[in-house]
Amino acid sequence: MKRQTLLKIAAVLSVSAGVFPNAVPGPIRLSTLDPQVKSLLARMTLEEKIGQMTQPDQEYIKDLSDVEKYFIGSVLSGGGSDPKEGNSLQAWTDLYDRVQQRTQNTRLKIPLLYGVDAVHGHNNVAGAVVFPHNIGLGAARSAALVEKVERITAAEVRATGIQWAFAPCVTVPRDERWGRTYEGFSENPQLVQELGKAAVRGFQGSDLFSPLSVVACAKHYVGDGGTVWGSGPQGAGLDQGDARMEEAELRRIHLPGYISAVNAGVGSIMPSFSSWNGVKCSASRRLLTEILKQELGFEGFLISDYNAIDQINPDYKKAIEISINAGMDMAMVPNRYRQFFEALKQLVEEGRVPMARIDDAVTRILRVKFAAGLMDPNRSPLADRSLQKTFGSAEHRLVAREAVRQSLVLLKNRNKVLPLKKTAVRLHVAGKSADDLGNQCGGWTIDWQGKSGAITAGGTTLLAALGKAVSRSTQVTYTKDGTGGAGADAGIAVIGEPPYAEFNGDRADLALPKEDVDTVRNLKAAGIPVVVILFSGRPMIIDKVLDQADAFIAAWLPGTEGEGITDVLFGDYRPTGRLSFSWPRSMAQIPINVGDKKYDPLFRYGYGMSY
Ligand code: GLC
Repeated sequence: MKRQTLLKIAAVLSVSAGVFPNAVPGPIRLSTLDPQVKSLLARMTLEEKIGQMTQPDQEYIKDLSDVEKYFIGSVLSGGGSDPKEGNSLQAWTDLYDRVQQRTQNTRLKIPLLYGVDAVHGHNNVAGAVVFPHNIGLGAARSAALVEKVERITAAEVRATGIQWAFAPCVTVPRDERWGRTYEGFSENPQLVQELGKAAVRGFQGSDLFSPLSVVACAKHYVGDGGTVWGSGPQGAGLDQGDARMEEAELRRIHLPGYISAVNAGVGSIMPSFSSWNGVKCSASRRLLTEILKQELGFEGFLISDYNAIDQINPDYKKAIEISINAGMDMAMVPNRYRQFFEALKQLVEEGRVPMARIDDAVTRILRVKFAAGLMDPNRSPLADRSLQKTFGSAEHRLVAREAVRQSLVLLKNRNKVLPLKKTAVRLHVAGKSADDLGNQCGGWTIDWQGKSGAITAGGTTLLAALGKAVSRSTQVTYTKDGTGGAGADAGIAVIGEPPYAEFNGDRADLALPKEDVDTVRNLKAAGIPVVVILFSGRPMIIDKVLDQADAFIAAWLPGTEGEGITDVLFGDYRPTGRLSFSWPRSMAQIPINVGDKKYDPLFRYGYGMSY
């Protein structure tokens, strides 16, 4: 049968396959696509197969002809890997097209999947809507909201042609000292399970085939949020450390998010840099094959983390052999992609990696490509620029503003100082983060680590939002250090953490920066009511400011839409957020999680006031 006809059948099948007789229409079972997958696989050479398993980072591709030469099946842009022309919508879309176009010069013309960390919007791209990080969505506790947020994120990602998001992070952070706490919804596995499932539905839609869907990636499998302090690389911190626990505890706390993601039809899963009882997740056959693929029936593919394979064994070829045989299907090899390709080819030729393992990996990758419409002969693999009309749109920003409103947690409101009046004579604002979109968004924004300052294109700082919300006769004044508040109706101190990502955020001490403590003290010295707003990626030790605060709001990392905060400050929206992490009194209490035998936090899991 002619290729075109076959692919046409594939296209029809992969759409119709979404609806089983007498089953609730939902995600297709990827294995229903196997007839056309196997037919394509049978025509592939070993090199073409290994190419599908190889994922370089665009910034390290020495010459784009490598996409053709190595039959590359996927490309990523890591956190800092922007187009050389800059990070505008057009620059990203042109980059995607430049890379994708090369696949059409290969014999089989299999389009590549392009992956990015769209973890709170299409956050690498200037002008994208930046949503609250997952810790805020966890406090909002709404699966419907999470689905809506990720649906919009998917649309903005597809506007650049890109079809794969390395999200949702379904980690269960159990120790706030971890720099990736904010990427998690909650310390509670059940909440992670519910919101993680909603996120997969949002990204992938009810039909992955839709041009508005992206392939999701549940990460980091498994137990990345359960490592012990001091077990990280070089024996420091938590990130990429060792989760030391019985399998029963791993299943109870850290596995639920993956069970629901698999049942929601997630197309990919990313094994963690971290280890379980001393074995790297990326090297564990027990985890990757026996539990995830055989027991849970995961039919998509595993993508390694960024050079994570390197950490398995000092002998790179040996490390590849171990990881691929353990069940890894695609390797994120940003700059070593040529070496990876040649090494894996040798391993197969030497019989150290069975061809059956290669065929299984490529089958899984092709299933997702068929399901996502990449093989549809009626659809160009290049970007559909008509999708760009809603990129960063006002309606997308309204949803982000709604997410901010619902994410805020009111921890204190002495003498009902909140809500404030829009007709106040003067409001005095203070703090390093009041007029700083970079601090308001946190890590994974424009750059991998994020950065303080006006780094996004579009968005509203809290200070600007205050100016927009108050009456014409109201004065909004600002000093960074909190002086000058005397005579104002109220003071608003906006404090918290500067942006960070991953291991750069591991902290042995979560006390507030001295600058913030001084700011609140200066503001309080004016003898006015003080409202403290905390921008942070986790609960912090706030004993030095809580007494001076008349009101205290945990705002997490709200993203670009600061008006969601003023909606709550002025009572246009009553606060409904509830803590999805226990709030410790002191460092001595950490780790502290709901369900602990000894449990006496400053604010309990689930705590949140309203008006
Ligand atoms: C990073 C992170 C992972 C991310 C990947 C690609 O190191 O661990 O969450 O998806 O690399 O940027």
